Amino acid sequence: MNTIETLTQLFREHSGRFLSGETISKHLQCSRTAVWKHIRKMKEDGYKFEAISRLGYKLIEEPNRIDPVKLTSLLTTKVFGRRLYVHDSLDSTQIAAHQWVAMGAPEGTLVIAEEQTKGKGRMGRHWHSPKGKGIWMSFVLTPPIPVHYVPQLTIVVAVALYRTIRQIFPELSAGIKWPNDLLIDGKKVSGILLESSAEDERLSHVIVGVGISANLDVEDYPEELLDKAVSLKIASGRAVDREEFIARFFAEWEQLYEHYLVSGFGAVQALWEAHSVTLQKQVSISTHGGFVEGTAIGLDELGGLIVAVPNGAGSTKPVTVYTGDMRTR
Ligand code: BTN
Repeated sequence: MNTIETLTQLFREHSGRFLSGETISKHLQCSRTAVWKHIRKMKEDGYKFEAISRLGYKLIEEPNRIDPVKLTSLLTTKVFGRRLYVHDSLDSTQIAAHQWVAMGAPEGTLVIAEEQTKGKGRMGRHWHSPKGKGIWMSFVLTPPIPVHYVPQLTIVVAVALYRTIRQIFPELSAGIKWPNDLLIDGKKVSGILLESSAEDERLSHVIVGVGISANLDVEDYPEELLDKAVSLKIASGRAVDREEFIARFFAEWEQLYEHYLVSGFGAVQALWEAHSVTLQKQVSISTHGGFVEGTAIGLDELGGLIVAVPNGAGSTKPVTVYTGDMRTR
């Protein structure tokens, strides 16, 4: 046991009572200054104390941590999450997953962090990943598909995520925004980032990053995100059991992924279209080749968005976009 575990144990044994600095320092055989430093570290880690100068410290709340033992016991999958790494803090679970793959980690390997200091979003953006509040995870895929099929995988992940949210929060009005955002009442609750490694057309692996704003409170968001983002807890009024969410997500994902590999993209495409909040909307997509503006009318067989673009002569021509930043107008 490290010092913080020992201290947590001591506070649990004295649940609801104050422990003086002197008692703690005797128990740990350290100075009062060292006790104060340990308590400060615990506060930074999310422990909450009541402190009264004459009485000492009372432990009010322990941080909520994703428990790998509980998660493993809830998983029903054959492959996904069976090799599991749970970290307190990482720069990015994407970076860690790439490193595990380089060391031979197989398909299904899952990396989770309580906090990311350099969380990666799409288009080089930063992904806000505060400690203990979300589900920040990346998993390894080695699909037997050519590299130009990768956009399909984003769609498969988005559908699995949508189904998980609907299962646990049937009361919420969730929808999928192309290509990879999960929205609740128009605000982003989750994002997906795929990073693939390939040589020519041969795909070696894909790292799928999923960020779910599970238990963030309003004060956990920076000002600029408040009108665009929401958490499952804020939207529903109840906290998410993160291990349960992850286990249910992987049950959905593994089933859908197997179906996709055996039967092709068609069924997933139909599910995505049924739950999309993008179709039949006026959209403006910023792409490498400029803006594509028109009405979103469907997905093509590779997972690209088909946009009916006015051609100036009173009719439209279909333009398919595979990657870009989309706004609805
Ligand atoms: C987006 O921009 O919508 C995609 C966000 C993806 C965030 C997740 S959080 C877990 C994984 N690790 C990262 O650094 N990013 C992804």
